[in-house]
Amino acid sequence: MVDNLFDVQNVTLRFGGVVSLNDVTLSQKRGEILAIIGPNGAGKTSLFNSLTGVYTPQQGSITFTDAKGKRYSVIGKKPYRVSAAGVARTFQASRMFSAMTTFENVKIGAESHRGLGAVGAMLKGPATRRDEVRSDAATRDLLEFVGLTSQSNVIAASLNYGARRRLEIARALATRPQVLLLDEPAAGTNPAEKNDLTELIRRVRDEMNVSILLIEHDMKLVMALAERLYVLNFGSVIAQGTPEEIRANPAVIEAYLGASDTGIAEESK
Ligand SMILES: Nc1ncnc2c1ncn2[C@@H]1O[C@H](COP(=O)(O)OP(=O)(O)OP(=O)(O)O)[C@@H](O)[C@H]1O
Ligand SMILES: [Mg+2]
Repeated sequence: MVDNLFDVQNVTLRFGGVVSLNDVTLSQKRGEILAIIGPNGAGKTSLFNSLTGVYTPQQGSITFTDAKGKRYSVIGKKPYRVSAAGVARTFQASRMFSAMTTFENVKIGAESHRGLGAVGAMLKGPATRRDEVRSDAATRDLLEFVGLTSQSNVIAASLNYGARRRLEIARALATRPQVLLLDEPAAGTNPAEKNDLTELIRRVRDEMNVSILLIEHDMKLVMALAERLYVLNFGSVIAQGTPEEIRANPAVIEAYLGASDTGIAEESK
């Protein structure tokens, strides 16, 4: 049997008359860098929200299987439970505690992993000295990993876009996930920052052994990283395959017509 992290079967999610996800079936293998692409409003973020317990689809099933083979049914679970099972994410719109330092932002992730939760971590009473030392060390290691050591003590709001995106990845990794869901990690970054992010995301998988599920409009980044892709359009999966197969797929090119800024046309040449 294939070792799948996520198994999504016939998932439908509606908001009133809007069908955000329409009978979506897909899977992610353990260790895979998998991408979800599609035009604006296609349902990509809705899928992430369904995979993390934020949205509750009306139909279908979502199963997450952890590294020990324990299976979790995600639909109906609270987001903190899904996170504790090993699923971490970053958000499409940058989310961080702007008034805190880079170090403090990541340390909150490390402490939420110890079961305090983000709010509990902020309101915590005196932690044991040993816990404190452990979170500090984990935080330092992660900042080193994402290349933010020299900016550990600056206020997060003062970081440039590329650094913020790396901080969000470090904070998500601090929960020690098995899979990291990245919702448009390169949005707002310049070409040099995009290259750094591409490299970082690959290292997260290769060196930290964390599977990657990636939503991204930047086709150069997607095609460089993804081993396999699914294409969503109006809530439905219209194609799946390797980057080469997706580039050559007429339904995909059709879905992107009129959305020339996505670059799929240039990439497909
Ligand atoms: N909480 C919500 N309430 C009502 N409608 C929603 C909600 N969340 C998503 N939708 C609708 O679901 C559809 C898919 O939205 P979603 O944000 O998942 O698209 P997306 O593929 O992430 O788009 P983008 O590339 O612009 O981020 C849209 O029509 C959106 O308005
Ligand atoms: Mg989105």
